[in-house]
Amino acid sequence: MTSCLVDIIAGARPNFMKIAPIIRAIKERQNSGGCIRYRLIHTGQHYDSRMSDDFFTQLGIPEPDINLEVGSGTQAEQTAAIMIHYEKLLLENPSNLCLVVGDVTSTMACAITAQKLCIPVAHVEAGIRSGDWSMPEEINRMVTDSITNYFFTTSEIANENLRRASATDEKIFFVGNTMIDSLLSNMERLCPPSFWNKLKLEAGQYIVLTLHRPANVDAIEALKKMLLSIGEQTRKLPVIFPVHPRTAKTLSNLKGLPENIHIVEPQPYLEFNYLVKNAKAVITDSGGITEECTVMNVPCMTLRDSTERPETVTIGTNELIGTDPENLKPILDKLFAGKWKVGGIPEKWDGKTGKRIVSILEQLLNPATDD
Ligand code: UD1
Repeated sequence: MTSCLVDIIAGARPNFMKIAPIIRAIKERQNSGGCIRYRLIHTGQHYDSRMSDDFFTQLGIPEPDINLEVGSGTQAEQTAAIMIHYEKLLLENPSNLCLVVGDVTSTMACAITAQKLCIPVAHVEAGIRSGDWSMPEEINRMVTDSITNYFFTTSEIANENLRRASATDEKIFFVGNTMIDSLLSNMERLCPPSFWNKLKLEAGQYIVLTLHRPANVDAIEALKKMLLSIGEQTRKLPVIFPVHPRTAKTLSNLKGLPENIHIVEPQPYLEFNYLVKNAKAVITDSGGITEECTVMNVPCMTLRDSTERPETVTIGTNELIGTDPENLKPILDKLFAGKWKVGGIPEKWDGKTGKRIVSILEQLLNPATDD
């Protein structure tokens, strides 16, 4: 059997929980004769230990084989830097396949670079669409999928989106959600954050808040209005707000936050999901967190007008409430009246997605394999 080298690309925080189960599955297969070798490439898009290293440690991801160390920059600067560094690597040491996950800048930049060197691209979490071109992630998704050879998807809706964009069925693999693989395999290990006792937190008696989308956090007045409204509408419950570096920049110029909003550092994976699992509700503008809330059956309010993950609304516990702070009152009234919907779990979000992906990759890269 010929062995094949797969580049696994990770750049930013939401990538790390998506690659961990794939790496684990490759290693398991290697122990029983699997043909795939991998090279883990960290682009360096996220570099703070709280945004990166902590996740590697907690999720048991091995040290990256290569770190492109691109660091901060504008969208174009980061894209260019990643492409230049990754191209150099591929020219010196080509791989057989470039596997990208999610929708961050690193995903798109590495997909373009590999495809231009005729190295096939596999995209995990392909096909999801918000329809909102003001989000850099939507552009990243569309560009990546337009040059992807093998699509690994989380939902039937994603499959449909891809078909509509002319992808053919034999290239689309509905495998489930690797982010949920990570969550399910770590459920027993979730642990309270260091401030749990100090803030006297109790299960079901606090709210978790995350905000980092440019549209929500870059304008100081809009952010202030939103936080004042959240402080007011959450019935004095503590609101735990782990702050992303982008949000921290705006917050550093903001005085007079409501007393029940507690700003904390970005949390490691196990602590963050412990907070979510035990929260009364989550208010967020993230996409991935809406999936985790759905699986943990935690009420989730998304401060956006659209979502690329509609199943979290139609099947799960998520509600889209837009970005107007006025919308918070009726939705929180519903929460406090105990009338939040009970969610279900989307198909194939069962903890086995990493294994499915690796088994398909083995067939694709080594069609003669019959085990
Ligand atoms: C990126 C992703 C977004 C994801 C988010 C999660 C893109 C287009 N967006 O957005 O989808 O939800 O990560 O965290 O890829 N910074 C640090 N330390 C770090 C990383 C960043 O201080 O380790 C600072 C940067 O200097 C910059 C800001 O945070 O000022 C934003 O970082 P960037 O990686 O550009 O995008 P995110 O907003 O984190």
